[in-house]
Amino acid sequence: MANILITGASGFIGSHIAEQCAIEGHTIYAVLRETSSKEYLNIPGINFIYIKLNNRAEIANKLKAVKSNIGRFDYVVHNAGITQAKNVRDFDNVNFLYTRNLVEALYDSGNIPDKFIFMSSLAACGPGNEITLEPISDKSELNPITNYGASKLKAERYLKEQNKLNYVIIRPTGVYGPRDKDYFQYIKTILKSIEAYIGGKDQLLSFIHVYDLAKIVVNVVDSNVTNSTLFATDGKSYTSEEFANIVKSVTRKKTVKVVVPKWLFRTITYIAEKVSGLLGKTALLNSDKYKDLTSKNWSCSADTTFKLLEYNPEYDLKRGIENTYEWYKTHKWIN
Ligand SMILES: NC(=O)c1ccc[n+]([C@@H]2O[C@H](COP(=O)([O-])OP(=O)(O)OC[C@H]3O[C@@H](n4cnc5c(N)ncnc54)[C@H](OP(=O)(O)O)[C@@H]3O)[C@@H](O)[C@H]2O)c1
Repeated sequence: MANILITGASGFIGSHIAEQCAIEGHTIYAVLRETSSKEYLNIPGINFIYIKLNNRAEIANKLKAVKSNIGRFDYVVHNAGITQAKNVRDFDNVNFLYTRNLVEALYDSGNIPDKFIFMSSLAACGPGNEITLEPISDKSELNPITNYGASKLKAERYLKEQNKLNYVIIRPTGVYGPRDKDYFQYIKTILKSIEAYIGGKDQLLSFIHVYDLAKIVVNVVDSNVTNSTLFATDGKSYTSEEFANIVKSVTRKKTVKVVVPKWLFRTITYIAEKVSGLLGKTALLNSDKYKDLTSKNWSCSADTTFKLLEYNPEYDLKRGIENTYEWYKTHKWIN
């Protein structure tokens, strides 16, 4: 069984990856910040390493110290990242520079892992063609439309330039499931009987349940797949209206449909961004969000992933939302 270093282990996706790796018998080394929550890291045998990813020398020293006790880190899952930021520089720092720092610190500490697994995003590709509505795939041109997507693509390109590191890049689409706070906001709006759309009801979406994503990561560890870029979805695509219908049927809610015109949403995000900028805060509604929500085609084909890993996701959206909704209720996130 392997020693696996996982960054961003305290977060939504990272905590599930850590759990799944531990279930498979691997030893987990969770990279945390002093401020990171351990709420979901109650995993027998887990080890914590406190590292600031902005400091290459510090990362190398800490890795060397642990390595001298355990031999080596066999795999690295670099999952830490931000999906929202005050500005482009913050995206670049966390999503690109920290990735580079970690890779260089691995070189410095003489610990080149068997694979460096990088949690990228479908945002690194950008949306699919709005006319043909062909799903985003390995063949699609890379055209990120958000600062977030651009920072992930920059990190991907850096990894592909490395000639002494085996990498696997994972590009998940929207990830939902227990512990997620983002789609939770959407479910809460439905629970308030509001079914909101930006521009129209026919945006094509794709999803992956976090349990399936965590299993994909473990399968990458256990497989021979290397130097590859893998999309991660549940294998289906859904219109925004189908998504709403599934949430409504699971929550048994009747709703009022509200279609917000694009121009109005653009104005709201513009004002929110300006006000947050003045207050030195990160705007939840921002121009990245506008671009995401108004791009028509986020459908994506993960066929290559399923074939290479011989894996089929266990959760389609209906089953996944049922599981997630149950979790929110059990954990009193909703009554
Ligand atoms: N959620 C999605 O739908 C989705 C889709 C595609 C890709 N992704 C990618 O998946 C990864 C995990 O996302 P998530 O949804 O699980 O987000 P999350 O819950 O916010 O977790 C982010 C993790 O990254 C760590 N992190 C953030 N900024 C950091 C910094 N400056 N230094 C060190 N660690 C830092 C956080 O540590 P703290 O706990 O200390 O803050 C946390 O452990 C990210 O790389 C994201 O881009 C997410």
